[in-house]
Amino acid sequence: MGRWRQAPRPLGLLLAAILVGIVGRCDGGISSAYVRKAEKTIDMPLDSDVFRVPPGYNAPQQVHITQGDLDGTAMIISWVTEDEPGSSEVLYGTDENNLDLSAEGLYTRYKFYNYTSGYIHHCTISNLKHDTKYYYAIGIGDAIRKFWFISPPEVGPDVPYTFGLIGDLGQSYDSNITLAHYESNPNAQAVLFLGDLSYADKYPYHDNVRWDTWGRFVERNAAYQPWIWTAGNHEIDYAPELVRKSETPLIHYA
Ligand SMILES: *[C@@H]1O[C@H](CO)[C@@H](O)[C@H](O)[C@H]1NC(C)=O
Ligand SMILES: *[C@@H]1O[C@H](CO)[C@@H](O)[C@H](O)[C@H]1NC(C)=O
Repeated sequence: MGRWRQAPRPLGLLLAAILVGIVGRCDGGISSAYVRKAEKTIDMPLDSDVFRVPPGYNAPQQVHITQGDLDGTAMIISWVTEDEPGSSEVLYGTDENNLDLSAEGLYTRYKFYNYTSGYIHHCTISNLKHDTKYYYAIGIGDAIRKFWFISPPEVGPDVPYTFGLIGDLGQSYDSNITLAHYESNPNAQAVLFLGDLSYADKYPYHDNVRWDTWGRFVERNAAYQPWIWTAGNHEIDYAPELVRKSETPLIHYA
């Protein structure tokens, strides 16, 4: 059960192979001269706009998607509910006003020192058509939230598909500028995330509340495009003085 569900491992290799193939064959060019400034900046405070909890009782938050199979016909939808489990069902379809398909997911939660996570839901939707806009809805009652994504094209030679590469994002004011820069590219279709997501581990007691803020921060993009994860050293969260090794959040990533 991954909090940030990893795509099936061979997919990563496949993507790497595709990427190397593309790089080897054509010149993608440099899309922008943007360089994030080198100086360290401070983290956005807990009451920042980007960390706002969505309105409504038990509203789904931290919504994010990742590719759910090797050829791009499945998507894993993940989100967190804070007050109670609620529903793990995803309604979806190609007609915004008629979400005629549904899938049932599962939820999990974990503890880290004195932090207890919300209910972390994962639901895989399968048999998707390629290169198609899907709408999806999660949540119950007045807290239903709707999103959309475009499924990847069919795998083949010379199929255009534009990935963003982001790593070490964190949650500083500059992280926000980096994400805004990525969003400003209208061609971007998916993110290959190179590890080191929230940097929650640099807080006292590895305050996992900073995982929740991070999830809310990236939702504005990660709910609409598959972010394909790899774990970095900051995901190890090794703190034997706080928790037994078997309880570190690492087990929630693998
Ligand atoms: C966890 O423990 C730390 C240190 O005692 C404290 O500052 C923090 O408020 C506690 N958090 C919770 C959720 O109890
Ligand atoms: C983060 O960036 C977004 C988009 O540019 C902006 O609306 C928001 O106010 C920024 N928030 C912070 C805390 O910098």
